[in-house]
Amino acid sequence: MRLSSDYLVVGSGIAGLYFSILAARSGARVAMVTKQEAADSNTQWAQGGIAAALGPGDSPGTHVRDTLEAGAGLCDPGVVETVVREGPGRVEDLVALGVRFSRDDGLLSLGREGGHSAHRVVHADDWTGRELVRALLAAAEAEEGITTFAGHQALDLIVDGQGRCRGVWASPQDHPDGEVVAFTAPVTVLATGGAGRIYASTTNPAVATGDGIAMAWRAGAAVANLEFFQFHPTALAHPEGRTFLISEALRGYGAVVVNHEGEPFVERQLAGGSLATRDVVARAIVAEMRRSGRDCVYLDATARDPEETRRRFPNISRYCAGLGIDITRQPIPVAPAAHYLCGGVHTDVDGRTDLSGLYAVGEVGHTGFHGANRLASNSLLEAVVVSGRAVQAAEGDRHASKTPLPAYRAPPSGDGRPTCAGERLGRIMLEEVGITRTDAGLRRACDLLDELDREIPKGGLDPASESLRNRLDVARLVAHSARLRRESRGVHYNEDHPERDDGTWGRVSLRRRES
Ligand code: SIN
Repeated sequence: MRLSSDYLVVGSGIAGLYFSILAARSGARVAMVTKQEAADSNTQWAQGGIAAALGPGDSPGTHVRDTLEAGAGLCDPGVVETVVREGPGRVEDLVALGVRFSRDDGLLSLGREGGHSAHRVVHADDWTGRELVRALLAAAEAEEGITTFAGHQALDLIVDGQGRCRGVWASPQDHPDGEVVAFTAPVTVLATGGAGRIYASTTNPAVATGDGIAMAWRAGAAVANLEFFQFHPTALAHPEGRTFLISEALRGYGAVVVNHEGEPFVERQLAGGSLATRDVVARAIVAEMRRSGRDCVYLDATARDPEETRRRFPNISRYCAGLGIDITRQPIPVAPAAHYLCGGVHTDVDGRTDLSGLYAVGEVGHTGFHGANRLASNSLLEAVVVSGRAVQAAEGDRHASKTPLPAYRAPPSGDGRPTCAGERLGRIMLEEVGITRTDAGLRRACDLLDELDREIPKGGLDPASESLRNRLDVARLVAHSARLRRESRGVHYNEDHPERDDGTWGRVSLRRRES
């Protein structure tokens, strides 16, 4: 079966929804393909918010400086300037689309997070993502030009004989045994989000399996900086709770990281204290966990007014209360967990990849905005600015000439059985390609992942096999990229090469399938 549209959008987080709404308003027919329900995305889980220089005493120049500093020499300064300057206008646009951000006396309430020198995080309490998805899904549903195809697992990009991306092959989840649908369009937009599920411990939902990166890489597009996987310092560490995020906004509000004896070791060790950038806070926590032999530290918000804490953090308060933790009276057990991939499919600031007809927007893309370490809440900002720009850029590709489409070719089957392959993959990544890495550990990880790659069957059309194939492709790319970068910078820290080496490594690492 073949379904054609003007624009094909794969994914339904903030980047995919915002692109689809603006494209439909320009008169295009948009097909939005998502592997589960449209509301299932990383965006839905975002707590913090959108960084934008809107407050008194703040300025785009200061936001640019903070972003470049966190990015540790690998940001593209022109991209940073563009995204930061266009941010406030996009926030206004989101308000016009119906997003209800928190306000103080009628003005947007601005939170503070790690690495930001000012209060600049626009948020909706501590469930910003849920509010964004609610409002943007409602706006998308009201657009006649958008058709949503939920429950379709994208398998691979369709690339024609002239090397142009013409859409995706997808498998409907209610017919996982054979039927393949060709979604075709002159413009394909990957908005598939992140890849936290390559790690055994992550704040990301089950859908975050790196599908867009894996498909783009298999089709020959350049991918960049995949060694820079950011760990969030404070995910909930509780035997009965999954790695639920304890937002950095709570630290911006005054909560402090302490050890089991109540000692504020992060304040003592780091210049920015609990609000230093994530890379250094996560490493300080890991060092303390190793020193104490415990599997968590604590985030202590008990010095703040209980009413105010419950009012500002209803989501975190309720979730923790469900596990018997009253965050106004008890420190919250936390540990770092995989959170955000700073690298991705390489694009320009308009989301254009080097495969004609293909765009990548949001976490799946790498524009050069985040560099080696993303600043908190800069990702929703990048997603909305770049996807907005992509709508204008893609207009020129909409009328590309058409050549015959290739037929679907299933990947060759492997010989082995996928026994627990997903769990093994996640553990290898966590143990050897986590917050602190070593040469020997990275070599071991690459060998084990290559071995796993030879073992797992490749030809399945069911979502579980497909997402395992994508996770494995992305995990191998992350591990091999980390092994090649023999220095430490941003969120990539190798104990055998602890210094930053600008002379040899001060550049973006680009990779294509042939290399
Ligand atoms: C958080 O709320 O701490 C997460 C925000 C982000 O990752 O940008």
